[in-house]
Amino acid sequence: MTDREVRQRTDPAVPHAEVIDKIPVGLIVLQMSNFDHLGAARILEINTAATNFVGAPPPGLRGKTLAELGKFAKPEVLEQGREAFKTGVSVDLGEFYGRSEGTGSVAYSVRAFPLSGNFVGVTLEDITARKSVEREVQEGEERFRLLVRGVKDYAIFMMDPNGYIVSWNEGAERLKGYREEEILGKHFSVFHLPESIQEGKPEAILKEAASSGSCEDDGWRVRRDGSRFWANVVITALRDDKGNLCGFAKVTRDVAERRKREEALWEVNEKLELRLKQRAVELLKVNEKLRAEVSERERAQEQYRALAARQEKVREQERTNVAREMHDELGQLCTALNMDLAWITQRLPQEQSRLRERTESALALVSNLIQSVRRISAELRPSTLDSLGLVAAMEWQAQEFQSRTGIPCQVVLPEQEVALDQERSTAIFRIFQETLTNIARHAQATSVQATVVLAEESVLLVVHDDGKGFDASNAIRRGSPGLLGMQERAHMIGGEFKISSAAGNGTTVSVQIPFRVMGKGQGR
Ligand SMILES: Nc1ncnc2c1ncn2[C@@H]1O[C@H](COP(=O)(O)OP(=O)(O)OP(=O)(O)O)[C@@H](O)[C@H]1O
Ligand SMILES: [Mg+2]
Repeated sequence: MTDREVRQRTDPAVPHAEVIDKIPVGLIVLQMSNFDHLGAARILEINTAATNFVGAPPPGLRGKTLAELGKFAKPEVLEQGREAFKTGVSVDLGEFYGRSEGTGSVAYSVRAFPLSGNFVGVTLEDITARKSVEREVQEGEERFRLLVRGVKDYAIFMMDPNGYIVSWNEGAERLKGYREEEILGKHFSVFHLPESIQEGKPEAILKEAASSGSCEDDGWRVRRDGSRFWANVVITALRDDKGNLCGFAKVTRDVAERRKREEALWEVNEKLELRLKQRAVELLKVNEKLRAEVSERERAQEQYRALAARQEKVREQERTNVAREMHDELGQLCTALNMDLAWITQRLPQEQSRLRERTESALALVSNLIQSVRRISAELRPSTLDSLGLVAAMEWQAQEFQSRTGIPCQVVLPEQEVALDQERSTAIFRIFQETLTNIARHAQATSVQATVVLAEESVLLVVHDDGKGFDASNAIRRGSPGLLGMQERAHMIGGEFKISSAAGNGTTVSVQIPFRVMGKGQGR
C-alpha cells in the first residue's frame, strides 16, 4: 500500500453518502408518521442496490410513501415492522421478490431495524443465488425421495441409530405387508423370527453395520401376515460430517425367486451331467464295437494277404513247372523233330527238289519253334532266377526288354550276389518285369535305368524312366491293377512300394524289402 493510499484511507472525512449508495446491500431509511399506518411512511433515503427492488431510480423515490410504492403492503409485514419499532430490536420481514433488467426475478431477504426518533431502516439482501442452490438441493432431494419411495422390487427404509423405523417405501410395503403409518416408529426386529430375536440377531446386525460401515445378511424374515420369505438384507450405517451415527439405511430383497432359479439351473445342470455320463458310456460302447470291427477287418485283411501270398506262390510254382515242362519235354521233342527232319533232308535225293524245299522250310519252322519254346518258358519263369539268382535274371530281363523295344536299359547291380530267398527274389523280379512292361506300353521313354542297392538290412530296387510321366497317386487311388499288384507284392513280404511321377518328368518306381544278409542268422 502506498503512503497516499494509507493517508486516503485514514482520512477522517468518510464519504457516508457514497458508502450508503455503493454498499451491495439495499438500504432504505423510512420516516414514520404513524406507526399504525405504515403505508404512510416516507422514503427518506434509498440506495442504488435497493432500486432494483423498488423498480425506479433513487432520486424519484425519495419523499414517496410506501403505499405509493405498493411494496411491503401485506398486513403481516406491517405488523412485524411495527413490532420492531416498538421493541427496538431488528426484525426479519421475510423474503420479497423484485425484478431486475437483465436477470429477471430477484429474491431479497428483508430486515427492518429501528433508528432513533421516528426513523426505521430497512435492508434488502439479494439472496437469489442462495435460493436457487437451495431449490436445486431441495428438488434433488425430492427426486431422490420419490425414487426411493417408488422402488417396488426392494424394500428400502431408514432406521434411527437404535433401529426404529423412520421411513418406508412402496417396495417395503409390497415385500413386508405393512403400510407406512403402521410401521413408522416400530423396531425393525418385527421382521425377524422369534428365535432370531432370542439369539439377539437384530442387535448384532446393527452393531456389525455400525462398526464396519455395512452388513449383509441372508436369512428368513417374517411378513405382517406371519408368512416367511428368504431375504437378502444389506444394512448401511449413515454418519454425518463429523462421523456421528445418524441412523441406518436398510435394503431388503426377496431372493426366493433367485433361489428357485438357481435350483432350477442346478437341476438342469445335474440332468445335463447325467446325459453326458450316459453319452460317454454309450460312446465307450460304440468305440469298443468299432475297435472290434477294426481288428476284425485287420484280421480279414491279414487273411486275405496270406491267401494272396499263397496263391502267388502256387501260381509261381505252376509257372515254374510249366516252364520246366515246356523246356524239357517240348524242347526235347522239338530237338528230336529237328534231328529227324535233318536226317530226312540229308537222305533226300537231289532231284526231289520240291520235297527238299518242304523239309528245309519245316526245319526252319522247328528251329523257330525251339526259339519260341525257350522264350516262352523263360518268360514264364526264367531258369536263371533259380539257377543263377536275381542279379543274373534281372540282367537277362533287361537284355530282353532292350532287344524287344529298342530302348536302352542300363542296369546297375551289386557286385556280389544278392542272396535272397526265393520269395523275395521272385517278388523283386516280378516287380521289375511289371515296371518294364509298363514302360514299354505307356512311358514313351528313350532310356531306362534300374539300380539294386544292398543295404545292411534291406534291398532297394529303383527303376527310373525318362518318359512322359503320369499322375501316379491318382492311378493308385483309382485302383490300377498293375500298380496295386506291385504294391501288394511288396507288402506281402513286409516291403514298401513307392511310385513318383510327374507329367514330362518320367517315372520312378522304388521298392524296399527288408532282409538279413546270409550268414547273419536266418539267411532270409
Ligand atoms: N512308367 C510309366 N509311364 C507312364 N505312365 C505309366 C507308367 N506306368 C504306369 N503308367 C500309367 O498308369 C496306368 C496304370 O498302370 P497299371 O500297370 O496299373 O495298368 P496297365 O498297365 O494299364 O494295365 P495292366 O498292367 O493291368 O496290364 C497305366 O495305364 C498308365 O497310364
Ligand atoms: Mg501295367
